[in-house]
Amino acid sequence: MVLFWKTAVNPWRLLIFPLDKSPTEGASPNSIFNGCPSYSFIRKIIRVTTSLLNQLSALVGQSFAKCDLDPSFGKVVISQRRELGQFQCNGALGAAKKAKKNPREIAETIVTELENTGLFRDLSLAGPGFINMRLNDDFLIKHIEMISNDPAFGATDSHKAETVVLDFGGPNVAKAMHVGHLRATIIGESLRRLHVFLGDKVISDVHFGDWGLPMGMLIKEIELAKPDLPYFDEGNSGPFPADSPVSVDELQLLYPAASGRSKEDAEFLETAREATFKLQQGHAGYRALWQHMLDVSVSETKIDFDLLGAHFTEWKGEADTNDHMPVMLERFKEEGLSELSEGAVVVHVAQDTDKKEMPPLILQKSDGAVMYGTTDLATIEMREQDHKPDTILYVVDGRQSLHFEQVFRAARKGHSISNAAKLEHVGFGTVNGKDGKPLKTRDGGVVRLRSLIEDAIEEARKVVVEAGLNDRFDADELENIATKVGVAAIKYADLSNPRMSNYIFDLERFTKFEGRTGPYQMYAAVRIKSMLRKADEQGLAHGPLVLTADAERNLMLALSLLPEAVLAAADKNAPNLLCDHVYALTQEFNSFYHDCHVLGEKDEAVRASRLTLCAMTLRQIETVLHILGIDVPERM
Ligand code: ARG
Repeated sequence: MVLFWKTAVNPWRLLIFPLDKSPTEGASPNSIFNGCPSYSFIRKIIRVTTSLLNQLSALVGQSFAKCDLDPSFGKVVISQRRELGQFQCNGALGAAKKAKKNPREIAETIVTELENTGLFRDLSLAGPGFINMRLNDDFLIKHIEMISNDPAFGATDSHKAETVVLDFGGPNVAKAMHVGHLRATIIGESLRRLHVFLGDKVISDVHFGDWGLPMGMLIKEIELAKPDLPYFDEGNSGPFPADSPVSVDELQLLYPAASGRSKEDAEFLETAREATFKLQQGHAGYRALWQHMLDVSVSETKIDFDLLGAHFTEWKGEADTNDHMPVMLERFKEEGLSELSEGAVVVHVAQDTDKKEMPPLILQKSDGAVMYGTTDLATIEMREQDHKPDTILYVVDGRQSLHFEQVFRAARKGHSISNAAKLEHVGFGTVNGKDGKPLKTRDGGVVRLRSLIEDAIEEARKVVVEAGLNDRFDADELENIATKVGVAAIKYADLSNPRMSNYIFDLERFTKFEGRTGPYQMYAAVRIKSMLRKADEQGLAHGPLVLTADAERNLMLALSLLPEAVLAAADKNAPNLLCDHVYALTQEFNSFYHDCHVLGEKDEAVRASRLTLCAMTLRQIETVLHILGIDVPERM
């Protein structure tokens, strides 16, 4: 079978069959797949029509299949040694081992097969049987045009849209958000944007911590400070004052005070427990006071979330489960899923295969109070009712993994959610100080999220002045740029690490305008923007792509890898893969810009093509930075 490329639209559509037909249905042109054990493998990869690597893998796989070899050996990767080729396939080695044949002979046969496709400019063999490939320029151009005509660069073609609930942010009433919430917010928001980009239905819920013992502690602490407030009159059923009796600043002092008192004073702790229970049971005064605490806390955290560009479709909290909780507790009891253990209601979640001890999930303590796990379990049931999610992702500190494992097991045991739905704890490591230990203030206290953001913006102000930007921009624009640079710095630094790794918070490094930093990626985009603006001013037209230099080819190859980056990032909940992609892109762009004239190019067709390539690159960099939550200013 000879595969010819004839169409100007999407050449691969000719090669890539049978898109939806099974091989036994009708006359399928790829009879080579019939009876082939790895047919399902090929079917899987050829569906992904817009990923160049998958297309090539499918094609090379066909050649392996023709030689009665497993097509999965046709896996093609981008070549790390561009002087040898753009792509490589090392499958001949594995195939030879399996078939007990000579790898070089197999590779030679595959190369002959591939030559017949007419799609390659260059095919060569290296070492014991590595196949190096260079695509025809026309094909590369068509491919890049095709993905660039798609708003998502072809990344969504193979993605089946899902309903995804993202639980992230997770602030607590009265406690200022701290460094731990930084990662939850930054990673969570980028996953939210990633799923929106993929076309999923995304529900983002902040899941406020607003229903545990800290609430009772605060109520009692406020009572000690202001005993005359109407909230403490037993029997007063309201209405209560519309204004909050405590400001957010007061609350933030009251919380550590209450927490300290609870540790020292057992009696106080007991009254706090009672107050928590009464609050949960609907005590009118406590509820009214609690609502004020919640409202001022929500307004305060909105400032942090706005600074970080985080969006929530739901501002729910643990307390929203209060009405559902008794229903759930009753059902668990009825169905024999929960049991009494030393007065507490628990769900056993240990399994025979457990290597570590798996304690039961406590639903209700002996005093009747519900726990963090109870609210999380009830939240799963409510999310199932409200949204029927395919996936719920919890972007929460990795140190809470035991908690989530217990909750998820209880949810499975109690059929709280459809069996098919995925529940996943997307954990992350800690942000450390230069001493390698979790970041603390100088006096050993908790570092507030706001101060981290402010410090980053402050550092960015210094950096933009050092870069001479203050000569070119007025104060407002300079401040806008510094804010964007500061936020980009902490976001990129956070997201570029594999999320389970800890990292050291080092603003000086994060704000540098070179290397793997947010400000640098952002600056690369701004430079392209300003070049395109200049081209516009000079009336220079964009035109069809032509290829004249390797730097252009390499840039196109980098552009072609977006679908892989996006899909792998979503699959592994790994925004760092998007950071890697955008970094590779800006690097290739630099080489291109170094090797190729754009505005100064004399040949009109070449210049027009390069302008098109610049515009495509800019759009892709901005798209990825947007997913990472990084805003690019118009100028800097
Ligand atoms: N409020 C919690 C904390 O500060 C995080 C909540 C995470 N989400 C959840 N569904 N448990 O640690």
